[in-house]
Amino acid sequence: MPEHIHVSVAWPYANGDLHAGHLAGAYLPADIFARYHRLKGNHVLMVSGSDAHGTPITVEADKLGVSPRVVFEHYHRRFLETQQQIGISYDLFTHTDTENHHRVAQDIFLKLLNDGYLYRETQRLLYSEAEQRFLPDRYVEGTCPICGYDQARGDQCDNCGSLLDALDLINPRSKTDGSTPVVRETEHYFFDLAAFADRLHAYLAQEKGHWRDNVLKVSQNKVDDLHGRPITRDIEWGIRIPLEGWEDKRMYVWFEAVMGYLTASIEWAHSIGEPDAWKRWWYNPDAKVYNFIGKDNIEFHTIIWPAELMGIDGLYAGPDNGSIALPYDVPANEFMNIEGKQFSKSRNWAVWVPDILERYDPDAVRYYIAMTFPESRDSDWSWEGFVTRNNTELLAAWGNLVNRVLKFTVKHFDGVVPDPGDLREMDREILAQVEGGFARIGALLDAVRLREALTETMALAREVNGYLDRAPWFKVIKDDRAEAAKTIYTALRCIDHLKTLFAPFLPFTSQRVHEYLGYDGTLFGEQAIQSFTESERTHEALTYDGTRAIGRWEPGALAAGQKLREPEALFRKLEPEIVEEERARLGQPRQIEQPGQVS
Ligand code: MF3
Ligand code: ZN
Repeated sequence: MPEHIHVSVAWPYANGDLHAGHLAGAYLPADIFARYHRLKGNHVLMVSGSDAHGTPITVEADKLGVSPRVVFEHYHRRFLETQQQIGISYDLFTHTDTENHHRVAQDIFLKLLNDGYLYRETQRLLYSEAEQRFLPDRYVEGTCPICGYDQARGDQCDNCGSLLDALDLINPRSKTDGSTPVVRETEHYFFDLAAFADRLHAYLAQEKGHWRDNVLKVSQNKVDDLHGRPITRDIEWGIRIPLEGWEDKRMYVWFEAVMGYLTASIEWAHSIGEPDAWKRWWYNPDAKVYNFIGKDNIEFHTIIWPAELMGIDGLYAGPDNGSIALPYDVPANEFMNIEGKQFSKSRNWAVWVPDILERYDPDAVRYYIAMTFPESRDSDWSWEGFVTRNNTELLAAWGNLVNRVLKFTVKHFDGVVPDPGDLREMDREILAQVEGGFARIGALLDAVRLREALTETMALAREVNGYLDRAPWFKVIKDDRAEAAKTIYTALRCIDHLKTLFAPFLPFTSQRVHEYLGYDGTLFGEQAIQSFTESERTHEALTYDGTRAIGRWEPGALAAGQKLREPEALFRKLEPEIVEEERARLGQPRQIEQPGQVS
């Protein structure tokens, strides 16, 4: 029975380009996982979108002197293009400023309100007299009361990850002009997290052996200290509070962004003309929801979002629908540093994905990042590592294997898979070993141990190279074609299997190997940037259509007699000089078009 797998992917703030940390933290793991499950024949729904609201967007807009909409639309468009180029195969990558998201978020607000999970309270908040406005979240900075970091923001400390109350900041100052704010009273809605204490404890106590240690630990710490969280803000950009008298306030970005997993699923269902299709994941006791996020977002996904879901259970449900699905696993990744230092946008210490895709192939980037996934501790992007792994692993072990075997077949067997007659012991052995990869590597992928899965796959490619060192082929091709035929047949079959084992990681080159082997059709299906029209306006989204995908997580069916196509090199060798060139770019000003700038 195929399973229903929901791949919920963190929504990037649309205030800057995607960088390697984004890919390493959430987007690439989610994509690999989703592709694997599609190959297994499972029903995958993978959604995300641009996080359009909140002070991360408005602070950037203020800085550039443009409206928040200009900022978010600019980066949304770039997210679509970048992710299409690197092959992040969302069923839908939308954004949080769609009519659908606004409507569902307001329905959720009202449902929580009506069921008694929201309450009003007067808060004392930081206010700028110079600017005559409150300074929510990122509008204020100061020293973290927990770790002492002196650039903590009003809502969260980037150093220790703690969620903060701006009033607790030591020496708070306005982000805009550095002035010291005063305290003023204002009324807000609070989400009553404490009301979910029993249910959250039960949720975290359920068999969670499959959760990563760090995720479980952070969550268990937080669940013992639940208190109401303000979920509205004194800000103009965001989702309106659907109540009279609340026209000046908006929902807190985190409160509504996590709802995107659900709202995007609903939008997707409408887009395929089956408005209830989202319930196959959200109201199905057998479905599994995985949230792919970075470690700074754990609490939002293991405490706050589950509580929101518990609070809205039954929303839009039919009479037969069971309970709404809570995250089954939240495989949060740690951070990826760059050349030993923490990523910094302001210092431009970063590897920007759109930039590197101008110079390197998507699978080369995917390979390096997946091999260095920060699954259990922070990892490091090093340009030297990138070049070395590309040349000595991707190209030397896998690319050359494909290249030399296919070229040899073209040259000596007229480009046709030769008939091997009876296989030798050594042939059967290597075939069995590679075929065994489907179960072994599959188990690692199921457990979201993606880095190990890729390492094992590469080890199998090396085994096949080892086999080719032992088996007779090029030396005997003149005198004993039959022996060479056995070797080439076996190697081609191994390549056919390996193409699938690599496919979740290296979808572009696996597709090419598939075609070189003489097959037609796409392993995965098509991805496209599409326009969606709502009542007032059109928005663009990245969509994936796997209806014509033919890839399967099983040994390939290559048979003697199949005609191959002329192969080309799968990967490019990278020159050692690029290490210094790329390092020299770090920390230098980056020339890109800014939102609102006419090119
Ligand atoms: N926008 C947030 C960030 O970039 C992540 C939000 S994930 C969400 O850190 F889905 F919950 F919104
Ligand atoms: Zn801190």
